[in-house]
Amino acid sequence: MKIVGIAGSLRAGSLNRALLRAARELAPEGMEIAIVDLAGVPLYNGDVEAAGDPEGVARLKQAIRAADGVLMATPEYNHGVPGVMKNAVDWLSRPPQGSALGGKPVAIMGASPGITGTARGQSQLRQAFEFTNSYCMPQPELLVFKAHEKFDAEGRLTDETTRQFLGRFLTAFAAWVERFR
Ligand code: FNR
Repeated sequence: MKIVGIAGSLRAGSLNRALLRAARELAPEGMEIAIVDLAGVPLYNGDVEAAGDPEGVARLKQAIRAADGVLMATPEYNHGVPGVMKNAVDWLSRPPQGSALGGKPVAIMGASPGITGTARGQSQLRQAFEFTNSYCMPQPELLVFKAHEKFDAEGRLTDETTRQFLGRFLTAFAAWVERFR
């Protein structure tokens, strides 16, 4: 089972990319998570799209088409989904008929230092997947709150409870993806 992991943050010390690395480590047997970077995805522009997808966008679309599912690790900015993440979804939603996200199983998780653990950001991202006709896993949810206390200086997830939640979340996602294969 091939899963593409996308973190909606560009910074090197991203907690959400660290969460994806932990997911790669804790994935159930048979699930492989390939983490892709959004650094090569420019701001969406219909004129640029009309001239042909930029390389970073084409590579991302190709990776998702070849995968069985997508795992999104989203930060939350100002009670919403960060532009970096939404912009990637906007590119991936094109063309509306036959997009890379159409009919694709998706799971959303997120980490933030605050106490709501990206709840609002995740909600907004979930709405976008209604329009892309993706199959977004309804439950369980994974909200990593006070995330700065749960990773060590090297970005390794050290909080045992969160590691267990993440393991169960990924097992549920594997079953969810299996339903659409
Ligand atoms: C934040 N942060 C934040 N956190 C949160 O829980 N709710 C929020 O609404 C916001 N708003 C917000 C706005 C902006 C512009 C920034 C830069 C940050 C804090 C945010 O969760 C924190 O920086 C995370 O560490 C970002 O995720 P990565 O980059 O660590 O993956």
